[in-house]
Amino acid sequence: MEPERFPHTITLRGGGSLTVRPTRRGDEQVLLAFYRELPQEDRLFLKDDVTTESWANRFIQRIERGEAVSLIADKDGAIKAEATLYRPRHGWSTHVGELRVAVACSHRRKGVATALLRLMVKLATDQGVEKIVVEVVENQVAARRTFEKLGFQQEAVLLGHVKDIRGIRRDLLILVNDSSHIWAAIEAMLADSIPGAE
Ligand SMILES: CC(C)(COP(=O)(O)OP(=O)(O)OC[C@H]1O[C@@H](n2cnc3c(N)ncnc32)[C@H](O)[C@@H]1OP(=O)(O)O)[C@@H](O)C(=O)NCCC(=O)NCCS
Repeated sequence: MEPERFPHTITLRGGGSLTVRPTRRGDEQVLLAFYRELPQEDRLFLKDDVTTESWANRFIQRIERGEAVSLIADKDGAIKAEATLYRPRHGWSTHVGELRVAVACSHRRKGVATALLRLMVKLATDQGVEKIVVEVVENQVAARRTFEKLGFQQEAVLLGHVKDIRGIRRDLLILVNDSSHIWAAIEAMLADSIPGAE
């Protein structure tokens, strides 16, 4: 990751700003505080249990091993959003990255996810990622809309693939896009003056 790109400021729709920087060792507790604050309804559909110390440790280790790139957006030291790009280091899909993003309720619909994803796509492209995948559970409407707005399209559905903590089975949608196409969509959105990136 190019250090000169960070810290980066994102401007929120409606006023205010957040500072974006790469996640690093030492962020475990602020990350946990952020994820524990998310509504349980949202956490139900995140792939990992992001509220445990062991998750935070494994997450930082994956970053240090180069298997994941993570950006956090904070205000006065409190995380308001986090985005991760997972990328296999070996094998036949090293050109594919998987994106995940979460934004604090207080900061939603202000363009934060879009701005973070913009930075992530740039990082991914710089690292040679050609195809980006997102896994969304069928009823994650906000997530689906956010990614569809960036040009992601449904490529597959895995029926009943996800079981939430209530034991209800849900379909998992695989949304995909080519990095170059996402970049074009983002540029078009910026041209329409949607705030977020500077
Ligand atoms: C999905 C999520 C990251 C979106 O974050 P956000 O910062 O609010 O997203 P943005 O403000 O950039 O919104 C982008 C667009 O997505 C659409 N969108 C976002 N939230 C929406 C909602 N609740 N309902 C309908 N459309 C929505 C809108 O078109 C929006 O653009 P607009 O506000 O200009 O109309 C956030 O709701 C979240 O953290 N959800 C829980 C975690 C999650 O589901 N993560 C995805 C797993 S990969």
